[in-house]
Amino acid sequence: MNQLELLYEGRSKQIYKTDSDDRVIVRFKDDISAFYNIKRAIIENKGRLTCDISSMILGYLNSKGISTHFVERVGDDGQLCRVVDHVPVEVIVRNVVAGSMAKRLGLDEGIVPENTIFDLCLRRSDLGDPLINDHHAVALGLLSYEELAKMYEMSASINNYLVELFESVGITVVDFKIEFGRAADGSLVLADELSPDTCRLWDKATGERMDKDRFRRDLGRVRETYEEVAERLRNALK
Ligand code: TMP
Repeated sequence: MNQLELLYEGRSKQIYKTDSDDRVIVRFKDDISAFYNIKRAIIENKGRLTCDISSMILGYLNSKGISTHFVERVGDDGQLCRVVDHVPVEVIVRNVVAGSMAKRLGLDEGIVPENTIFDLCLRRSDLGDPLINDHHAVALGLLSYEELAKMYEMSASINNYLVELFESVGITVVDFKIEFGRAADGSLVLADELSPDTCRLWDKATGERMDKDRFRRDLGRVRETYEEVAERLRNALK
């Protein structure tokens, strides 16, 4: 599969056309950003590390029968992915209260709710990706109620597999963000990265944060922590 012209460049990824109409190559950049690009930096090797971690996780989910866009790893920092029609919403899955939920509801970080929480957000960075609900999504013509039910079902399964995988390497999956697309037959496909850039991961033994909060909150050792996550997953999945 040959990499052709650049189709899109975002804050942390580039998407390239290939010589197949139903495949693209996604390249992970070393750029890291937070608070809608207000805070930015370049972390050497971060593209390779997030590609590594995301490829391991999506490969694992594929092996469990979850439909994802990931086909295979391409070089150090790339993934061959299925072309999908992206749905402009984000699902945030929360197992532990943290981040914007703690802030919005005046709760302490670390509270473990009885049930898993699913937030639905509209992907509009100019509006700050606002929290919406199912009725908004249907009214805006983004998804049907049937698709929403399927998306939550897939999100719950993804969460179960992630919790199990990370449990085995001593890490709590606090929360994560995922996006979906529609395949040619209309079925929903997980079409996103899963890495410490898009998940909150807390070390079970020390409570230490092993994710992008290290960058957001100036905790230091961002690359070293991502390396540790990659190493633990590599050992668990070999
Ligand atoms: P939040 O607590 O800021 O709402 O974030 C919840 C989780 O979603 C956290 O793991 C970070 C991730 N996330 C993204 O990956 N991208 C985003 O644009 C947002 C808002 C959150």
